[in-house]
Parts: sequence; C-alpha cells; structure tokens
Amino acid sequence: MPDSVDSDLTYDDLIHDLNNVFETITEAAELLRRDKRWSPLAATLARSVNRGKRLLGAIPDRTPNLSAIIGDSIQSITDYCVAARKPRLKFVRQINDEIRLPGSSKDWERVFENLFLNAAQVMRKPGRIDICAQQADGTLTITVADNGPGIRADILPRLFRADVSTKNNSKTRSGLGLHIVDSIVKKHAGRVHAANREGVPGAVFTLSVPSV
Ligand SMILES: Nc1ncnc2c1ncn2[C@@H]1O[C@H](COP(=O)(O)OP(=O)(O)OP(=O)(O)O)[C@@H](O)[C@H]1O
Ligand SMILES: [Mg+2]
Repeated sequence: MPDSVDSDLTYDDLIHDLNNVFETITEAAELLRRDKRWSPLAATLARSVNRGKRLLGAIPDRTPNLSAIIGDSIQSITDYCVAARKPRLKFVRQINDEIRLPGSSKDWERVFENLFLNAAQVMRKPGRIDICAQQADGTLTITVADNGPGIRADILPRLFRADVSTKNNSKTRSGLGLHIVDSIVKKHAGRVHAANREGVPGAVFTLSVPSV
C-alpha cells in the first residue's frame, strides 16, 4: 500500500469502494446507451470500467495472449483519443495470433497502454503506430514505433526513471508511465529500450522477454 493511503484500509476495502465508483459509472453508461447519439460513449465507459476492474483484480485475469492484449490496448487508446479529442492514431500490427506472454494480462495491458498513450499525447496530427512481434532463439521481441515528434534528446538517457516528464501539469504527478513499463518488463526478466527512429521522425520502443 502507498504511504498516502490510510493504513486502516485494506486492499479489499479499496476494491470494494472502487467497485462502488464503477457501479455509478456503469449505471450512467446504461442511461446513455438508451440514446443512439450517446451509445458509442456508453460503450467507451463500459470498456473503461472493465479495464479498471481488471487492473484491480476484481474480475479474473485472462491468459496473456499478445494479440488480444494489443487489441484491447488499441481499443482503450482509441477510446481515449475520441473522448479527449486527440488526433486519431492508425495502428498497424504484425503479430502472430499464437504468441503468448509470461505473467498476467493486466500487467501487459499496462505496458502497451502506457506506450500507446504516450504516443497519442505527443501527436499533434493524426499518426500511425506500428507494432511488430518476432520470436527467435528463445526471445520474444516486440517493437512499438510511432511517427510523432520523437523523444526529446535531453531526457532520453534517463527516460525510464520515475518523474522524468515533459508534461507541465502541476496538479498530478507525471513521469510514471515509462517507469511502470520498465518495472513490469523487468519483473518478467525482460528489458525495454527507447530510441528515436533513424531517417524518419518518431520514437521506437523495443521490448524483449524470454519466450514462453
Ligand atoms: N512516443 C513518444 N514520443 C515522444 N516522446 C515520448 C514518447 N513516449 C514518451 N515520451 C517522452 O517521455 C516522457 C516520459 O514518459 P512517461 O510515460 O514516463 O511520463 P509522462 O507521459 O510524461 O507522464 P505519465 O505517464 O505519468 O502521465 C514524456 O513526458 C515524453 O516527453
Ligand atoms: Mg506517459
């Protein structure tokens, strides 16, 4: 438990109360769903609630299949781009349907959602993200490449440290997304590397983990 949370509260208490929050959102979404104009937004809310529940462990985790996890993460970020009125992203995948990942699917959703979200947040115009997965010599290598402005050179060497961010938002803590990505990948005996693409604008993240 983080220090900021009341020590009398257990994780189960937190899940209980967050489920109440999800319940309210679900009820509101149900009202929206009845009106054709708002039903896409209702579906977005329902997907976000399910994602929140999966993160909390309030609904059972699924088998970590890479293709399915990437599909869900693309849906979440597409929902975000529509709701936040961000430029749309086109996702191009080269992923074999059979590829599995180690550990839990909720961990990997956090990895890909943070990577896709970062790309969505730096894009100033509609962009593209290419995701490619390859298995060789017992290692699964996944690349996520975008065609945005690229990573600022001054932060590149310390990108995965907590609190490294170019966001100027004094209200909430920033610079956690890539730290989470790095921690999860390391937990599964893997590594993640960030670079700017050669010859074209954009960033590329390369993840490698032992094949399962
Ligand atoms: N795809 C990308 N293209 C260009 N810059 C990026 C990209 N991904 C990350 N960055 C840079 O790395 C910084 C750190 O990213 P990170 O996800 O760790 O934190 P954040 O996005 O700033 O905040 P948070 O994720 O906590 O909301 C970003 O602020 C941004 O400057
Ligand atoms: Mg981020």
